Amino acid sequence: MIKVVYDIKVYRQVLRDIIKKDDVVVELGCHVGNSTRIIQDLSPEGRIISLDNSPESVNAMKSITDDYSNIEFIKADVRLHEILEDVANKIKEIGRCDVLSVDLGGGYHPDTTFKVFFIWSSTLKPRDTIIRNRGLLDFIHSASTDELLKSEMGWLESSGNDGIPPRLKEFKLWSSKIN
Ligand SMILES: C[S@@+](CC[C@H](N)C(=O)[O-])C[C@H]1O[C@@H](n2cnc3c(N)ncnc32)[C@H](O)[C@@H]1O
Repeated sequence: MIKVVYDIKVYRQVLRDIIKKDDVVVELGCHVGNSTRIIQDLSPEGRIISLDNSPESVNAMKSITDDYSNIEFIKADVRLHEILEDVANKIKEIGRCDVLSVDLGGGYHPDTTFKVFFIWSSTLKPRDTIIRNRGLLDFIHSASTDELLKSEMGWLESSGNDGIPPRLKEFKLWSSKIN
């Protein structure tokens, strides 16, 4: 399932609706961990890998990871190939990614959020993905189509196995090398 939301209260309610007690969750854009704590409550027997590139996150996330051994924080830019590769290797060891959440904040245009969603979900193949972004929510409700393509999982089954075409310059931070 792929859920797109904007309101932070709706985002946190969706986390409550879908996360199970032993889920493996990858959280992109954890900020100071306010939703990470909710995720930990929901998945006390699971694993949580949270990422953010903000200096503000470091101390706040350290106090959370000191309290909970099943949470790992990585201070990093989630657009970078090596960061995805690092997390993909951890997920390979764990065996699965159940939930991917993408909340990069209002400053990001929907294209960046979509690109991050597409490449991370295509690589990690989560059961469910939650994306928090106003522009994507607007697009979904504003666009119309007469054709139906639909994915049941948290990634796009119609194109999520294709890899990223290297000729596209805007994808130069990514490659399709991680399986
Ligand atoms: C709206 S906040 C996230 C709020 C958080 N999910 C919550 O529920 O409390 C967006 C976060 O995304 C982070 N962010 C934005 N772009 C990023 C990037 N390229 N890599 C890593 N983190 C990023 C920002 O630093 C910020 O902390």
